[in-house]
Amino acid sequence: MKQWQRDPSSDDGPLGDGGHVGIDDLRILREQFVDFMLGYKFAIDEVTTKINILREDFNNTHEYNPIEHVGSRLKSPESVLEKVRRKNYAMNLAAIRENVLDIAGVRVVCSFISDIGTIRDMLAGQEDITVLEERDYITHRKPNGYQSMHLIVSIPVFRSDRTERIPVEIQIRTIAMDFWASLEHKIYYKYRGEVPPNLRADLAQAAEVATQLDEKMEALHRQVDRSAPPKTK
Ligand code: GTP
Ligand code: MG
Repeated sequence: MKQWQRDPSSDDGPLGDGGHVGIDDLRILREQFVDFMLGYKFAIDEVTTKINILREDFNNTHEYNPIEHVGSRLKSPESVLEKVRRKNYAMNLAAIRENVLDIAGVRVVCSFISDIGTIRDMLAGQEDITVLEERDYITHRKPNGYQSMHLIVSIPVFRSDRTERIPVEIQIRTIAMDFWASLEHKIYYKYRGEVPPNLRADLAQAAEVATQLDEKMEALHRQVDRSAPPKTK
């Protein structure tokens, strides 16, 4: 069994005896890991609340809702540990916090391309949010056709005995981009990453069609916005 390395930042710990793991140590490790994962669940709750507030407030102020839906997922302990092994990160909680930045994931699906920047700016501008990383796969689409705006942010989570800053991966995309990504994900898994060339070409073409649809919808939306008669309450 792979042993957890001792966290060099802590003076004592279950592995303070040079690496030998007893049953009590395992229980402590388990408790520490459960507590560690709970922080990520709380971070998802915080970000989801922020997005729901933006949605309701935007709707009230602008009589328009830029968010179609919000989803989230907490990486399973198994896949957190699998990623640590695959990427050869040190097996301790501090190293996991520093390196595995997608344990908490939130996905925001918007109606139009322009909404993506709006949501991104409203989140990134909040005082308690720090943007750690940003990947714009919309301006720079992935070779397979994947499009999405990715932000890795850190957010404070106020625990009963301490404050933690927890990283959260936020993906922001349109309905069309989301539709494409979920189908591509299924195909990728079905072929275990070895997608046949003809399917790859079809997927790339479908991504192009999705972009055209997004652009057409955006243009229509602007046109309707300009020509709509003023609303009477
Ligand atoms: P990981 O090590 O897998 O987390 O990737 P990364 O750190 O290089 O980050 P990246 O921004 O490329 O991807 C993060 C997440 O975006 C993935 O876990 C997926 O949810 C999503 N994603 C990225 N690329 C693709 C893709 O080609 N297809 C689909 N369907 N989703 C993708
Ligand atoms: Mg990831």
